[in-house]
Amino acid sequence: MSTATPVRSIAVIGAGTMGSGIALTAAQAGIHAFQIDVSKPALDKAKAGHAKSLARLVEKGKVTQVDADAALGRIRYVTEMSDAKDADWVVEAATENVEVKKKIFQLMQATFRADAVLATNTSSISITDLASAVGADAHRVIGMHFFNPVPIMKLVEVINGLATSADTTARTLALATAMGKTPVPANDRAGFVSNRVLMPMINEAFYAWMEGVAKPEDIDRIMLLGCNFPMGPLRLADFIGLDVCHDIMMVLYRELGNPKFFPCPLLRQLVQAGRLGDKVGRGVYELPAR
Ligand code: 3HC
Repeated sequence: MSTATPVRSIAVIGAGTMGSGIALTAAQAGIHAFQIDVSKPALDKAKAGHAKSLARLVEKGKVTQVDADAALGRIRYVTEMSDAKDADWVVEAATENVEVKKKIFQLMQATFRADAVLATNTSSISITDLASAVGADAHRVIGMHFFNPVPIMKLVEVINGLATSADTTARTLALATAMGKTPVPANDRAGFVSNRVLMPMINEAFYAWMEGVAKPEDIDRIMLLGCNFPMGPLRLADFIGLDVCHDIMMVLYRELGNPKFFPCPLLRQLVQAGRLGDKVGRGVYELPAR
C-alpha cells in the first residue's frame, strides 16, 4: 500500500470511549471498521452507542437514515483480532498501560498484513517505546492521538517514533484528513503537546479546589466564562476520567522527571475512592452514568 491508496478498512482495538469513537468516525467516512474487544459487553455497549449517536444525527437532520444505516453496516464487532486480519490499518486504543499495549502490538504484528500501519491512540506513552515491541516493524508504528468526543473533535495529534518511516507518516496524515480531521504533528515526548499542556492545568484546578481557592463549580465557571473554555477543567476531568488524568500525570512525572507533574493528592484520593468521573456517575460531580 502506498500513500496514494485510500484506506478501505481499519481495525480498532479496544471498544472504550476512544476506540468506539474512532470506529464510528471511520465508518461515517466510508471506511469499513472492525471494532475489536475481548469483552463482548464492551462491544455491545459500543454498538448501542453507535446506533444512538447516528439516530441523534438523523433526528437533527444532519445525516440521512440511509447514510446512518450504511455507516452502521460498515462496522463489524468482533472479539478476535484474527477476524480483522486483512484490514489496511490498525489503531490500538486499549487501556493506557505500557505493558498491555506492548503485548497488543506484538499480537498486531503477528496478525495483520506486513504493510498495515500499526497506529496507537496513546495519550502519553512514548511511541518509540511501544514500537520497540515489534522490532524491525517499528517503521510502521505511529501515534494517532484522537480527542474525545472523537466524532466532533477536529484534531489528530500525529507522533512519529524514532523509527517511523516517512511513508507511514504520509499515509497517516492522509487517513486523518480522509476521516475529516486536521492532523497536527508533535514530537515523541511524554504527553506530546496536548496532554503536556492540558493535564497540568487540570491538576492545578484540583489543587485550587483542595486549597479552598474556590468551590469546584466556581473554578469551572471562572474558566468557562473567563477563558471561554467549552467546559471547566474539573468538569473536563470527569468527562475524560479521573483515572485517565491521574495515569497521564504519572507518565509525565516519571518520563519528564519533574515533581511539578505529580498528581494532586485530591485527584489521587478521588481515584482511590473509585470516583472516576462520568463513566461511573461520580467524580468531582455527581453525574448520570453513561
Ligand atoms: N458524539 C457525537 N457528537 C457529540 C457528542 C458525542 N459523544 N457529544 C456532543 N456531541 C455534539 C452534540 O450533538 C452537539 O451537536 P449540534 O451542535 O450539532 O447539536 C454538539 O456536539 C454540542 O454538544 P452539546 O450541545 O450536547 O453540548 P456542548 O455544547 O456542551 O458540547 C462538548 C459538548 C462538545 C463535549 C464540549 O463541551 C467540548 O468541546 N468540551 C471539551 C472537550 C475536550 O476538551 N475534549 C478533549 C479531551 S482531552 C482528550 O480527549 C485527550 C485524551 O488523551 C485525554
